[in-house]
Formats: sequence, structure tokens, C-alpha cells
Amino acid sequence: MARSKNPVKNIVILISGGGSNMQAIVQAARDQHWFEKYGAQVACVVSNRADAQGLASSAALGIAHHVVDHTSFETRAAFEIALAERLDAYQPALVVLAGFMRILTADFVARYAGRLVNIHPSLLPAFTGLNTHQRAIDAGCTVAGATVHMVTAELDLGLILARAEVPILPGDTKDALAARVLAQEHLIYAQAIAALLAQQLKMQHDATEMNPN
Ligand code: GRF
Repeated sequence: MARSKNPVKNIVILISGGGSNMQAIVQAARDQHWFEKYGAQVACVVSNRADAQGLASSAALGIAHHVVDHTSFETRAAFEIALAERLDAYQPALVVLAGFMRILTADFVARYAGRLVNIHPSLLPAFTGLNTHQRAIDAGCTVAGATVHMVTAELDLGLILARAEVPILPGDTKDALAARVLAQEHLIYAQAIAALLAQQLKMQHDATEMNPN
């Protein structure tokens, strides 16, 4: 199979907080045998905050984890150079933003073009940016949701890979809505990543068939 000729596809996951999407992805990778199917593994978790709860979860899951604390750098560019050094040590096939709360520069996005994915807690293109749940409630929406998308230099506007809708119920608070959306995030993020891995594997097979040597 193609994998014997190809290196393991390392997935690196960037977090800033709770890390529940990260946990769902690691669990899906294990339950769905991504290593056997796609030659892919979650290689590490990187947080920009030393106090992110998700770091303890990655430790409990036996996943390598690192902190690149953005407050230790004078500029966004300097932070991103250190972050990229950390990521590049893993030669990532995919860089997965999972509740990573730093805006990334166009240079950083270009470095990982085609390999950088994000999940956003709204039905994009509606409600880019922050405080999505309260804004959806205040706007009188009856549905909300989450979107998995490729990351481009424009905030929350890259190619859409997956979306999930949930109802907004009468009397909903932003926390109740966030919990309902988060449960769906855990499903669609892992599904979208599996689809990307399948696509990468197919491209490898096609390339091998066209150029068997
Ligand atoms: C998620 O709702 C994600 O969409 C948003 O922040 C939340 C992170 O949750 N950007 P977690 O850290 O994955 O638990």
C-alpha cells in the first residue's frame, strides 16, 4: 500500500482552552483506526496558553503536548516563528485549529496553505469573529451551528468542508446554545478531517499510479 512509500501523516492540533474538540478528534482517530486507514496520527497538541485545560487532557491521552506562550513574544510575527518551528518539527500533513484563539497572519497561513483547518461556532458565512452564540440569539435566528473550513488569510472565510445545524430554542442562553453546538462540533470536525485524509491518500495513490517508480 502507498503508505510504505510515504511518511506517516502527522496531525498537529492547536488549542487555547478546554480542548474538547481535540479530545474528540483523538478519540475518533483511535476508534476509526486512522493510522491503519490513512497512515495518519495525532502527533502532538500545542497550546498558546500554559493554563489551557486541554493540556491535561492531551497528557491523559498520551499525546505529546507543548506550550508556545504568545505572551512571551514581543510581536505576533515572533510568536508565529516560534510556533512554526515547533510545528515543523513534526512535518505536519494537517494543522488543526481547535479552539485556538489567536489570529494568524497571512504569512503563517501561507506557510500551511492547504493543510490548515479550523472550526468556527456559527453557520458561516454568518457570524464570523467572536461571541457567535449571543449574536445569533440577539439576531432572532432560529438555527445556529458550526462550520469546518480551510483557513485562508481572511478571517473565517476559507473553503467550507462541513457544517452542522442545531435549533435555537425559545429562551436559549448563549451557554445552552454553545453546549448544543459543541456536541455537533465534535462530530463534524473528526468527519471532515477523515475526509481530508482520505483525499490526501487518494492523491498519493493517483500520483503513484502515474509515476510508479
Ligand atoms: C469551540 O466552540 C470552537 O468552535 C471555538 O471555541 C470552542 C473551543 O472548544 N472556537 P474546545 O476548546 O474544543 O473545547
